[in-house]
Amino acid sequence: MHKDSIWKCLLLFSLISGSSPVHGLNILGLFIHPAISHFQFFQPLLRRLAETGHNVDVVSPFHDAQPPKGYTDYTLPSVNLSNQLGFDMFEDIPMPSLLPFAEFFILYAYGRDACNATLHSEALAQVLQHPAGYYDVIIVEQFNTDCMMGVAHQLQAPVVAMSSSSLMPWHYDRMGTPIIPSYISALFLGQSEQMSFGGRLGNWITSHTLNWLYSWFNVPAADALLRQKFGSGIPSTGELVKNTSLMLINQHFSLSGAKPLPPNVLEVGGLHLRAAKPLDDALQQLLDRAEHGVILISWGSQLRANSLSNAKRDSLLRALARLPQQIIWKWENDTLPNQPANVHIMKWLPQRDILAHPNVRVFFSHGGLMGLTEAVSSGVPVVGMPVYGDQFFNVAGLVQRGMAVRLDLGQLSEQTVFDALTQVLDPGYKLQAAKVSAAYNDRPQLAMDSALWWVQHVAETRGAPLLRSSAVKLNRFVYYSLDVYIALGAVLLLVLVSLLRIWRLGCGQKRQLSKAKRS
Ligand SMILES: *[C@@H]1O[C@H](CO)[C@@H](O)[C@H](O)[C@H]1NC(C)=O
Ligand SMILES: *[C@@H]1O[C@H](CO)[C@@H](O)[C@H](O)[C@H]1NC(C)=O
Ligand SMILES: *[C@@H]1O[C@H](CO)[C@@H](O)[C@H](O)[C@H]1NC(C)=O
Ligand SMILES: *[C@@H]1O[C@H](CO)[C@@H](O)[C@H](O)[C@H]1NC(C)=O
Repeated sequence: MHKDSIWKCLLLFSLISGSSPVHGLNILGLFIHPAISHFQFFQPLLRRLAETGHNVDVVSPFHDAQPPKGYTDYTLPSVNLSNQLGFDMFEDIPMPSLLPFAEFFILYAYGRDACNATLHSEALAQVLQHPAGYYDVIIVEQFNTDCMMGVAHQLQAPVVAMSSSSLMPWHYDRMGTPIIPSYISALFLGQSEQMSFGGRLGNWITSHTLNWLYSWFNVPAADALLRQKFGSGIPSTGELVKNTSLMLINQHFSLSGAKPLPPNVLEVGGLHLRAAKPLDDALQQLLDRAEHGVILISWGSQLRANSLSNAKRDSLLRALARLPQQIIWKWENDTLPNQPANVHIMKWLPQRDILAHPNVRVFFSHGGLMGLTEAVSSGVPVVGMPVYGDQFFNVAGLVQRGMAVRLDLGQLSEQTVFDALTQVLDPGYKLQAAKVSAAYNDRPQLAMDSALWWVQHVAETRGAPLLRSSAVKLNRFVYYSLDVYIALGAVLLLVLVSLLRIWRLGCGQKRQLSKAKRS
């Protein structure tokens, strides 16, 4: 065969087989929420896309010091949320049942401010210099504002959404996902999918109210800022979100329960998990040599452990001193008052790598999803002390699955800490943790590989229109078949009324007949 035709054959073959990886897509990431714990879930995918050969532009507050080739940062000025929260802010909350609503409005304000700051930023101005159609796909975080859907609309590109938590109440409608409050627990409440009647009542009210509040507050706020920036012709973000092609969520049925999802809502929980790295010598020795194992205490990137009140800290330490385990604690100060000999403090610790060590017996966590995911993946039982956001929900899921015990921040004392830790050290918890871990880890495809395939698929098909549920086009009245119920009800009523008439008519005639007989 002629050399030329061999090449043509090869080219044809690669076109037909369709297995050739797509290269050189232009991809834009818009991640404006300033929480590093969220970005830690998104960034591995963005980096992986660049490593696969795509051009990835990223607008976010987080600068990548060693970006892979093809990864370009457009860094936003940002508030630093790391180590900014104190326990004092969450103790003695007057009406805990209203906490979800207070949190909703805090998130709303964060979203509005991040939207405003981004729309005024130099970083976004640079990205907007690209012509409409330049980007093949835009990946955005969908959390507390849909401001970036307006930017995606300007740039005329299909959208892949990501959520670093389970679905928020307002995510369901836009994707055509059924929201069934009888067993799908609202993220903001600390319930698993097994709820009492009171729990289901609260869940129904919270799910629907938060969804409505989102459309009353967050949508108009983003719309106003977008109209200021791009003119009044821009559609409402409430409409634009329905154009989301695909949503990648940090959720997995083994943790938060099986639920119906359309094919464009993909559970890629643990997407960010990488293989554990070797520990430094000191940590390795500590973990190897701990005769009774190790308890790891870490309350995430935002909460400061040193903001715990002196009384609570001291009772915690007294409980820890009674245990034979070695304790590693993420503690931000150089010194820890009344530090027992078995407690080792570190300002920063390689949480993932420590949890992967077989000698870790318990993870004492605030219930952040990133840390819990790492514990689940390594099969480590958990003591969860949830403080805000989805932490109550995350912990409830693990408690229901028998691999965790919940501890209330308000009840924190020497005895409650000692009891919770001793309880979870029981081998039954380890057994359950191993079962959940197996269900979480065993998948037909790595979460990263499937996310990568789907993002490329959305780009190649310009938004994968056939993937979307037609439910998003229906209003709620039609979606819940209320029109059909009303029509059927009307027919039923008509039949009943007619039957009643006929019966009365019959009775009347009988009466007349008997009257006639008597007279
Ligand atoms: C945020 O603040 C923490 C400590 O408060 C610091 O360690 C970290 O470097 C800061 N991050 C940025 C991006 O400034
Ligand atoms: C948006 O930010 C600008 C300054 O960058 C400020 O003047 C304006 O008041 C902000 N708008 C809102 C709604 O916060
Ligand atoms: C931690 O360090 C800060 C600043 O150095 C200090 O103000 C605070 O009292 C310390 N807290 C504890 C519990 O040691
Ligand atoms: C919806 O998304 C498609 C691409 O998937 C895009 O072409 C279209 O312009 C978008 N519609 C709006 C209103 O932004």
